[in-house]
Amino acid sequence: MNELSFARLEEIQQNEFIKAAIDRVGAGVVISDPGQEDNPMIYCNRGFEELTGYEAEEILGRNCRFLQGPDTNESQVQRIREGLDSKEPILLEIKNYRKDGTPFWNELQIFPVYISQMDQTYFVGVQKDVTQRREQEELIGHYLSEVKRLSTPIVPVEDNISVLPLVGTVDDERLQQMLEAVSHHVKETKEDYLIMDMSAVHSYNEAVHMGIYQMNQLLDLMGTTLVITGIKPTFAIQSAPYADFSELSLQTYASVKQALKQIPRRK
Ligand SMILES: Cc1cc2nc3c(=O)[nH]c(=O)nc-3n(C[C@H](O)[C@H](O)[C@H](O)COP(=O)(O)O)c2cc1C
Repeated sequence: MNELSFARLEEIQQNEFIKAAIDRVGAGVVISDPGQEDNPMIYCNRGFEELTGYEAEEILGRNCRFLQGPDTNESQVQRIREGLDSKEPILLEIKNYRKDGTPFWNELQIFPVYISQMDQTYFVGVQKDVTQRREQEELIGHYLSEVKRLSTPIVPVEDNISVLPLVGTVDDERLQQMLEAVSHHVKETKEDYLIMDMSAVHSYNEAVHMGIYQMNQLLDLMGTTLVITGIKPTFAIQSAPYADFSELSLQTYASVKQALKQIPRRK
């Protein structure tokens, strides 16, 4: 065997080795040729076949958009289009469909590769199934919003009086959510009094003092009186720099029971 053919054999073996490695990367890998009409795929690895359920013969020569379907977000497709036009790398998650019609979340990465021998740019696409992670995120999001909803229980105790018992930690996010829930509730019910009971609050940040101040102003505008119960002495002392509760003519009582005893009722 002469030197040239030996080098050729080495090159072939190397290519085989690279091909086998790419087949086993555990993700889809495709190459497309934008020099051809409609930017068809000219290579796909085994990972892509396994991910999508299509065979190489059904894939090669086609544009990769055949993976899209009814729930594919058009703005994501637009982002791909723009990235390809400007030859910028793309990374996004897009809803795709397998051959059998089942949807999956595709973490898609596309980047341009310039091959100097051909003086041409090709696109390499890497596809990863991230359905499980997306589903877990959606589930966590659902539970978080449920926890949030349950953490602002506004309980009507009498005609025109409701109690909002606060339990646990009150931070900025929770405060914002409370303001929203309370304003929505008061707008609907037009109650005279809202009692915010703080006896079970075990930790809060500085924003809570301002939050109560804001809540008082908001309710005042809506014609509802805010009553605070169960304030611990440390909380009252810390409030001073932010909002002087006595100046706000805020009604405070030691407990909900006491507040209910004192609040004047409509005749
Ligand atoms: C290398 C490469 C890989 C691609 N892989 C996917 C893919 O896995 N899923 C997908 O929905 N679109 C993929 N696309 C995007 C589509 O092929 C197409 O570019 C996109 O739908 C925007 O173009 P269109 O408006 O002509 O459909 C890929 C594009 C390239 C160039």
